[in-house]
Amino acid sequence: MTFQELQPKVTELLSQGGISRDEKLKNLCGLLSDTISHYDWVGFYFADHETRTLHLGPYVGAETDHTVIPFGKGICGQVAESNANFVVPDVKAQDNYIACSLTVKSEIVVPLFVHGKNIGQIDIDSHVLDPFTKEDETFLEFVNQEVAKLF
Ligand code: SME
Repeated sequence: MTFQELQPKVTELLSQGGISRDEKLKNLCGLLSDTISHYDWVGFYFADHETRTLHLGPYVGAETDHTVIPFGKGICGQVAESNANFVVPDVKAQDNYIACSLTVKSEIVVPLFVHGKNIGQIDIDSHVLDPFTKEDETFLEFVNQEVAKLF
């Protein structure tokens, strides 16, 4: 399935009634990891701007110890400060990286903006080296725009 074909499915899933926002986000993570073969771990982190920490939200994939990440630490913590997409083709080439599992080869993190404020991010790990393209970034920006409507 192409990213273009997946977009209306994302919108439909997020508009489902009778379930909580976290349930919708978990279903979204499941849809993305089931549909896109190079998405092996898909999850959301949410920012606490007072304590300058990120907190793990809904996710699918291997369990992670990194439920709280200080701003500035790892790829996720850097995106909390930079407000910019971060594509990591090869995690081994990163100094400021928090390893979750040895099977993870690459990562992409795209910030989630609500009314212009960076409130968190979608984080995707892949077991494939260098799989992410501009299309992934554009698609994940779309996903986050749709998620922002839930806040
Ligand atoms: N690798 C991330 C930590 C989160 S895990 O990928 C779930 C990082 O460096 O911020």
